[in-house]
Amino acid sequence: MSIFLGNYNAPKLIIGNIPTPVGSFHEMTLQIANSETTMQTIPHSDRLQEPKLITSLPGPKAQALIDRDRAVTSPSYTRDYPLVAKRGDGCLIEDVDGNIFLDMTAGIAVAATGHAHPQVVGAINEQSQQLLHMCGADFYYEPMVQLAETLAAKAPFPQSDLGSKARVLFTNSGAESLEGALKLAKYHTQRWRVIAFLGGFHGRTYGAMSLTGSKSLQCRGFGPLVPGVTHIPYGTHASLDYLEQTLFSSMLPPSDVAAIVVEPIQGEGGYLVPDDGFLPRLRDICDRHKILLIVDEVQSGMGRTGKLFAIEHWGVMPDIIAVAKGIASGLPLGAVIARSEIMTWTPGSHANTFGGNPVACAAANVTLQLLENGLMENAQERGLQLQAGLTELSSTYGCISLPRGKGLMVAVDVCDEQDNPDPATRDRLLQDAFYQGLLLLGCGRASIRFCPPLVITSEQIAISLNILTEILKKYP
Ligand SMILES: Cc1ncc(COP(=O)(O)O)c(C=O)c1O
Repeated sequence: MSIFLGNYNAPKLIIGNIPTPVGSFHEMTLQIANSETTMQTIPHSDRLQEPKLITSLPGPKAQALIDRDRAVTSPSYTRDYPLVAKRGDGCLIEDVDGNIFLDMTAGIAVAATGHAHPQVVGAINEQSQQLLHMCGADFYYEPMVQLAETLAAKAPFPQSDLGSKARVLFTNSGAESLEGALKLAKYHTQRWRVIAFLGGFHGRTYGAMSLTGSKSLQCRGFGPLVPGVTHIPYGTHASLDYLEQTLFSSMLPPSDVAAIVVEPIQGEGGYLVPDDGFLPRLRDICDRHKILLIVDEVQSGMGRTGKLFAIEHWGVMPDIIAVAKGIASGLPLGAVIARSEIMTWTPGSHANTFGGNPVACAAANVTLQLLENGLMENAQERGLQLQAGLTELSSTYGCISLPRGKGLMVAVDVCDEQDNPDPATRDRLLQDAFYQGLLLLGCGRASIRFCPPLVITSEQIAISLNILTEILKKYP
């Protein structure tokens, strides 16, 4: 069946006319396509699915902008290749010179509903004409209440006697969600230690950076960090044996531990899926020692893995969930979602000015509807297609490992002839992909991650695999 997922020549919803989702995503997108509309197109192509390069890269306008950028922005930013984005639509990005790229990054797993999904843009337009800001920490407004109600209802927590099973604190970013989660866990338990994982990435602010165990460069020169964090290896039963049999008895009294902070699938660390039973066993350890289980779903959440929260793949109920990235399809928003019994801190103990901004919440409310009405299903199906294609590539080209991941959170390792991680070749592959119009990102030591918008079509997955195949033909 041919369905409308990309937005080229896509009708743009009239402001204020956001259709209520019906039945399935397919029905809903058809409904959008049939609604009374104004047209939004990118002039280069009709229903384009694939990259189209019309200049050498970077083109002249891109180069000029890069030169201006280099003079005035922080040198701490990491840009792998010279993409200067001007417009996004679905899974395609147009640069300032009119080149069109197929985006397998979603702006680092953020543009969940695709770039400029017409319903998200419609909701943003409508909300921005009514109220841009009023500070949810001090006042009330409906988009924030509605979003908190939805997140609370969908959180994989047990029922509670407190009226709602969850309560939500809104933030502006992933790091800030981790800060909030960490503070809440310490406040609730009145304990000071935390366990986190090597390879984990939780953000750049002090608390989040202290939890991070991904690259030493990320904490070099910034010490001292927040005390009390112990990192152990990720994802294996051997690591949990070491925690229980060695650390708990030698230097880490479990009664001092407020929380274990874990990514259900490690993101920056390499899209690593833990061993079977690892996450359930963490839950069990937490229960036995009255430790809180914080899951960092900043990258793995919001439908990316085919479920709203990746932890749901293991049937584990956490105590606190940190989200951000995909929640508002690109507007800055994050959330700390906690069991109602845990989020009992008193007025003034934690808040912020911008968290839960009404426009970002309006975007998030529509994002959640779109996820539920077909995008999570699409993530699951397209993820299987992607993994099948990468498996085939891996059998032909020795430098690519078998894929791993869930839904549209998929990675392969790039290896040398001895099967060792080969970061230099990985970096070259990322560059080559860019010059063929395919946007990819690295992760882990020598991995390539695939985290496209969840609206990606089967044709676009096939195109990405074809581009990769052509590139790999040049590699040993
Ligand atoms: C799992 C995870 N947690 C936290 C963060 C930090 O999010 P932000 O960059 O929005 O602060 C990231 C960012 O990549 C992430 O992947």
